[in-house]
Amino acid sequence: MDNKDPRKKFFLCYFESTRKCNLNCRYCMAKAPRAKPKDHTTELSTEEIKRLVIDEIRNYCSHGAIAFSGGEHLLRPDALEILEYTAKAGLWSFINTNGTLLTSDLLKRVKTATGGKVIFVFSLNSILPTIQKWSRDDSLWTVIKAARLCLKAGVNFFFITTISKSNLKSFSTTVNFLKLKKIPMLRSPFVTRGMGNCHQELALTPEDMKNIIHPVLRNYALSYVSYTPFFAGPEFLEDKWKEMNVEIDQLGCQAARGFVGISAEGHVAPCVHLLDNNLKCGNVRDIALTDILRNNEIIKAVRSRETLKGKCGRCRYKQTCGGCRALAFYKTGDYMAEDPTCFFEPVDETTRSEHEELQNKNTTRFLEFIKTRDPWKSLF
Ligand SMILES: C[S@@+](CC[C@H](N)C(=O)[O-])C[C@H]1O[C@@H](n2cnc3c(N)ncnc32)[C@H](O)[C@@H]1O
Ligand code: SF4
Ligand code: SF4
Repeated sequence: MDNKDPRKKFFLCYFESTRKCNLNCRYCMAKAPRAKPKDHTTELSTEEIKRLVIDEIRNYCSHGAIAFSGGEHLLRPDALEILEYTAKAGLWSFINTNGTLLTSDLLKRVKTATGGKVIFVFSLNSILPTIQKWSRDDSLWTVIKAARLCLKAGVNFFFITTISKSNLKSFSTTVNFLKLKKIPMLRSPFVTRGMGNCHQELALTPEDMKNIIHPVLRNYALSYVSYTPFFAGPEFLEDKWKEMNVEIDQLGCQAARGFVGISAEGHVAPCVHLLDNNLKCGNVRDIALTDILRNNEIIKAVRSRETLKGKCGRCRYKQTCGGCRALAFYKTGDYMAEDPTCFFEPVDETTRSEHEELQNKNTTRFLEFIKTRDPWKSLF
């Protein structure tokens, strides 16, 4: 796909800037805060983050963004300095946070440091307090209060929902709440990374996807276009996007296309969900990030999707969906295997999904939304 230099389309670098955290969520993929204290000594320093992550992303995609996650990015003593540097490099910052540290004063300082080029991302696994609390080691009201603070201060935010067996029952209620409030949301699949490995029982099945998750997602146009299975026709990537003049090139799985993951210690993976295992694409301390993004064989294979296996390999939606590479890896050990949660059964590339028409319509609505609304129109 897009290997041009510099990249013209939107790109998001998801950087777990620290493993430190003030919460202890049950299945945390970053293993925070159970990472041993000595682990933090190997985390990238302020200068390394500026030089090896931010400068490199600016060179790769001058209008891209960095999502600062963790652990809890706001616990880093240099959190604001890093955000300020990111904005001065012309990049947007996303702050994926548990919301516990947010005050109106801190919001003001973040707004000033970033010149307003910031979007907060809060984890809302369920709008039902008991279900949220089970997976989040914190009360639902923390993220609700944090969102209200953002609304009051005029700071952008949205929610991310990690879906697992633990919150399936309330998934539709949660998304309906967001729909009512017209708040965009991004779904993220539970993976057995980090502490997630101790909770294999939470992994999703094709039946969960078919009967509960997919019907909800495909009926909310503001749920992002990056979930799988995704049944937008291949024409989207050819004609439709030119016609709509959009600057994003990924539908379905984002791994290595519009997205890359970097750990606190500088390891790179095609997706944040694939960090901390033997699928290493290099470390930014040893190889320039731009070099990894352009030349690493794993990144190139995931990006092109040409060697996908099983049903993903013979599917009409190979380029508009591609199947979740992380779920494939955790199920089989092969990052190019078929998505184990997909309920679609293609015979070959001529098999069409009954959901294609609706998914095309919703994708168009989503793209129209990001092209016309702040802050998204500045990003894409
Ligand atoms: C690791 S947290 C770090 C940012 C911040 N501390 C927070 O909790 O929002 C980033 C996101 O990963 C999600 N997450 C945690 N463990 C996960 C797992 N095993 N699989 C998938 N997502 C997970 C969280 O719900 C959160 O939305
Ligand atoms: S999910 Fe976020 S808040 Fe919870 S322990 Fe992990 S890093 Fe901390
Ligand atoms: S078979 Fe793979 S590429 Fe096709 S819809 Fe399912 S997950 Fe997506």
